[in-house]
Amino acid sequence: MKRYLMAGLVFCLCGLIMITPAVAKKKPIKIRFSHVVADNTPKGWAAKEFARRVNEELAGQVEVQVFPNAQLYGDNQAIEALSAGFIEMAAPATAKYVGSIPQLQLFDMPFLFPSINATYKVIDGAIGQEISDLFTKRGLKQLAYWDNGFKHFSSSKCPLLAPADFKGQKFRIQSSDILEAQMKQLGATGLKLPFAEVYNALEQGVVDGQENTASNIYSKKFHEVQKHLTVSNHGYIGYVVVTTERFWNSLPQDIQTRLERIMKEVTLAERKMAMEMNMGDLARIREYAEKSKRLQIYELEDQQKAKMKQALEPVHKMMPEVVPVRWVDEIYQMK
Ligand code: LMR
Repeated sequence: MKRYLMAGLVFCLCGLIMITPAVAKKKPIKIRFSHVVADNTPKGWAAKEFARRVNEELAGQVEVQVFPNAQLYGDNQAIEALSAGFIEMAAPATAKYVGSIPQLQLFDMPFLFPSINATYKVIDGAIGQEISDLFTKRGLKQLAYWDNGFKHFSSSKCPLLAPADFKGQKFRIQSSDILEAQMKQLGATGLKLPFAEVYNALEQGVVDGQENTASNIYSKKFHEVQKHLTVSNHGYIGYVVVTTERFWNSLPQDIQTRLERIMKEVTLAERKMAMEMNMGDLARIREYAEKSKRLQIYELEDQQKAKMKQALEPVHKMMPEVVPVRWVDEIYQMK
């Protein structure tokens, strides 16, 4: 009997010795978050903030590592990298989903959204739900919408104040067909280039101009290689923070809940940051223009804006088989 007890004790001790290090060594779940912009932009800030919060609040359980500036993947490759399991999160601009969720090109329509609030209404409403279902069908999971803001045109050739000013110029655009149509409608050419290549393309004259938000322009110094910038607010840039259904469903329920809560709080803060950062960066671009005398900045007057808007309106309904006309009509009703 004594011998059995001893053997049992030894067995238990061995078990403990074998199990304890295994439990102690359990590795945190890794989330590699890849994006293309600089840290000092709305998306860059939010990705870092999400990582900081998760790494603090779920220490030892989840570890988020952010790879900014297209260090790992350009936005066009991010969805493939996610699906292949090389990264776990990304936040491409809606324009970059052209190959997977082309309906997101709704957000590229020039002069469609009357305000940033209107974009939130769309995202949080019935259209947003339809889009969310499209993600699920593709095996992707939408975690949040992050905001950047409205874009402005710039050029090295001439001031851009009327549709005719665009004629014959080449502009770098994101990979959306709607943006290509927008440029064509203005008599210009849109060249789809990765974000990481824009500065060089502008500097070397591969393209004459570009369109982007103040935070993206300032953080990548595009304004330093352009001569004319029009504060046009003509189009929108927003992001879908995305993972795969496969990765998400592999997470324990309580981790999912806590990640969702952090993401929700970061998203609310991100929307405020986006506005502040873009305002600050536009002011910094103006300061640069004044000091350097190398850049002219123009505001679109109401009449000029109305003419541009009129010239670009046909683009809204140019791809009805991709972006439903009823979506566009719904946004026309918004203030
Ligand atoms: C661009 O390519 O201009 C933007 O989509 C970059 C970004 O992620 O804001």
